Amino acid sequence: MSDFKKNSEENYIEIIQRLVKTIVIMLLIIVALIVINIMDLSSPKKKKPIPIEYVPPQADSTLVAPDTSYVKAPDTTLIRNEKNAAQIIYGRNLIANTSFYFGPKGKLAQQTNGMNCQNCHMDAGSKPFGNNYLAVASTYPKFRERSGTVETIYKRANDCFERSLNGEGLDSLSEEMKAIEAYIKWIGKDIPKGEKPKGSGITDLKYMDRAANVEKGKNVYTLKCKSCHGEDGNGKLNADGIAYQYPPLWGDHSYNNGAGLYRLSRFAGYVKYNMPQGASFKNIQLTDEEAWDVAAFVNSQPRPKKDLSKDWPKLAGKPVDHPYGPYADTFTEEQHKYGPFGPIAETKKKPAKK
Ligand code: HEC
Ligand code: HEC
Repeated sequence: MSDFKKNSEENYIEIIQRLVKTIVIMLLIIVALIVINIMDLSSPKKKKPIPIEYVPPQADSTLVAPDTSYVKAPDTTLIRNEKNAAQIIYGRNLIANTSFYFGPKGKLAQQTNGMNCQNCHMDAGSKPFGNNYLAVASTYPKFRERSGTVETIYKRANDCFERSLNGEGLDSLSEEMKAIEAYIKWIGKDIPKGEKPKGSGITDLKYMDRAANVEKGKNVYTLKCKSCHGEDGNGKLNADGIAYQYPPLWGDHSYNNGAGLYRLSRFAGYVKYNMPQGASFKNIQLTDEEAWDVAAFVNSQPRPKKDLSKDWPKLAGKPVDHPYGPYADTFTEEQHKYGPFGPIAETKKKPAKK
């Protein structure tokens, strides 16, 4: 009995000794591995090469909107509470489906190029940074340099019929124009008189230091626009041929040379926050440079021409990026079309000579 006890005690001690040995060996191995690793990292020759596929992230700060605060359009489901709900809804339809009513196969008349107002005034003029109408009711009637007159909402809407839709305007007393006006007033109803809420209209981008480049813009177009708007810029009609799935960017059915988008700053500011389709101020897909360059490319392509001889009666009122002279300054038409715009803007800041 005592023999057995002695034996099992020896066994026990032996097991402990082995265990300690194993642990010590393992610890030594771990320490050795750590030492080898440190030496390996600190020796410059042995640094692992970065795999070739690795592309460091492009830090372009212009892919983030500088200020994302904006005023939201009212909820359209509340239109039904308005006394003139039917009229407002009709106006919204006319903005969204303009071609159905007035396009080449228009139900009411054939007097526009087949585009819809909402091709440029996104989501029927309600999208933040999407050329929305939130500032219209609060700021019209207003004096505009282009016409040199005080313009009503009706006059301004017809401007887009005649230029952006390269067509004829509507009679101010027509049901359709009254409906468009009612909708535009409804969408801006909460904005105090005189105020231009953040995110309304088109957002100005910072001017580039260089001129916008047509060749670079062509590359942007090929990579990011052509798949929808087409090699020839003519866009793509819906199967019924009544309106566009992808509206044209140049050619006979596009906006004419008197339209807002024909100015580089308007085009660049529009596409920056809205194109390619699905882009928004929360999901910007073009750097500022890409937006300016693609604007230069698209606006160097052929498009319908309008008689602009009555525009800008006061030369000093012309915007820096109006591509046709004469001007109140000495910069060329070329620079007024493609930039750099900074130096032109500088001369405008100086007080006019008496
Ligand atoms: C090809 C693009 C395009 C189409 C299509 C278009 N517009 Fe416009 N619209 C513009 C641009 C660009 C401006 C100027 C926005 C700016 O400078 O902030 C503008 C401005 C306006 C404004 C003044 C907005 C403001 O805040 O001062 C109204 C109103 C307007 N459009 C109505 C219409 C109506 C109605 C239609 C359809 C018949 C239409 N637009 C179709 C591009 C377009
Ligand atoms: C996935 C398809 C798609 C791509 C890619 C795309 N667009 Fe568009 N684009 C559209 C659609 C659709 C509209 C009309 C939006 C609406 O009605 O809501 C539009 C409208 C426009 C308009 C205003 C209407 C007009 O025809 O003048 C311009 C300008 C424009 N896109 C420029 C561009 C540019 C520049 C690019 C490349 C950077 C681009 N788009 C890429 C689908 C696309």
